[in-house]
Amino acid sequence: MIQAFRAEILSISRDPGTDPEAVRHEPDGLLVIEDGVVAARGPYAELSGRYAQVPVETLPGLVVPGFVDAHVHYPQTDRIAAHGEQLLDWLERHIFPAEKAFVDKAHADAVATFFLDELLRNGTTSALVYPTVHAQSVDALFEAALHRDMRLISGKVLMDLGPDGLKDTVASGREQSEALIRRWRSVGRLGYAITPRFALASSDAQLADAGVLLAEHPDVLMHTHLAENLRECGEVAARFPEAADYLDVYDRFGLVTNRSIFAHGIHLPDRACGRLGQSGAGIAVCPSSNLFLGSGCFDFAQAERHGLRLGLGTDIGAGTTFSLLHTQGLAYQAAQAKGTTLDPFRALWLATAGSADLLHIGDRVGSLEPGQEADFLVLDPQATPLLARRTRHADLAERLFALQVLGDDRAVARTYLLGRCAWNRDMK
Ligand code: GUN
Ligand code: ZN
Repeated sequence: MIQAFRAEILSISRDPGTDPEAVRHEPDGLLVIEDGVVAARGPYAELSGRYAQVPVETLPGLVVPGFVDAHVHYPQTDRIAAHGEQLLDWLERHIFPAEKAFVDKAHADAVATFFLDELLRNGTTSALVYPTVHAQSVDALFEAALHRDMRLISGKVLMDLGPDGLKDTVASGREQSEALIRRWRSVGRLGYAITPRFALASSDAQLADAGVLLAEHPDVLMHTHLAENLRECGEVAARFPEAADYLDVYDRFGLVTNRSIFAHGIHLPDRACGRLGQSGAGIAVCPSSNLFLGSGCFDFAQAERHGLRLGLGTDIGAGTTFSLLHTQGLAYQAAQAKGTTLDPFRALWLATAGSADLLHIGDRVGSLEPGQEADFLVLDPQATPLLARRTRHADLAERLFALQVLGDDRAVARTYLLGRCAWNRDMK
């Protein structure tokens, strides 16, 4: 099937901080899709003649690649906006009790359904997702993602030091991870990530086993948390006195590779950043979560000095918004708090091709280049009276920045998966 969409189109395939040529913008563009894949893209005036026989649908707004959430917890959907604590107390008081409920597959199914619909409503078409320690929580998420044909990556959480009702063992963690990899690898658009919760939730034996599992499966990723909160960092240093720093704990267990994605990385010494850069591992930056839990602000300048691979995550439910558009605006504010600035095109890149590259799916999604899967959304710069007023005489950079600072789910007019409309705000 061939489809053609006429719209203003914007994508950023590489970090525009280092490569300004990476910004691709067609003020009046044509996007041609064949069987869910981008077949051609360019100025309408140049391309339309070649596809004269294909009916053209005009889209009402700015088309950008679907957002890619590089770090989010679906079981925490119902604990967003839990008041009062920083990371370790927040986990004990609000999160662990909620995650225990995912022993029930029907509960996991219901939350996964709401969660994926909410991603699509916010323009997020791909994500790297934490489930819980329960294998059935992975099945629930993958079944729901397969049903929607979303490109999604997840993997059972390993946490043999977790609280009662939320812990596995080294043996059960391995056995269930291997069974899930066998069951879900190469199914639809799904991918697997070995997911030790964080250094404090696993024994040395489980961390070592996660490293072995990662080495045995070259097609899977590794996903965990790193240096998010000062008390957490203190407890890690106390438990692992022989490690040079928090990253080195993971490194000693074979968990620092170019397939490793670490959420946060707020409190990192230069040594750890150097090692991250050298290994090709990357960081999912989660500004909404970092502000909400009082964790700190990501140091973009330090990351740039070390050439770190970066993406953007909401980290629901420490994050307070499903909107990666709004999260781009918060990333700007977090950068400001550290005395640096974040260009709006770079922020959009972080939420699209940056995250996609981090998740090793950048060849499939993230920049709407010919050959890529046609996951995209339509942004509406007139979504609210304030946005309409602020953008009425604005150039592209100003419009994009206003959308990032003032916009959220209200500004997502439509979301497309493989060229098929999966969310239409105006046809609820
Ligand atoms: N560190 C370990 N577990 C978690 C979690 O669920 N959320 C966040 N933000 N950090 C963590
Ligand atoms: Zn997290």
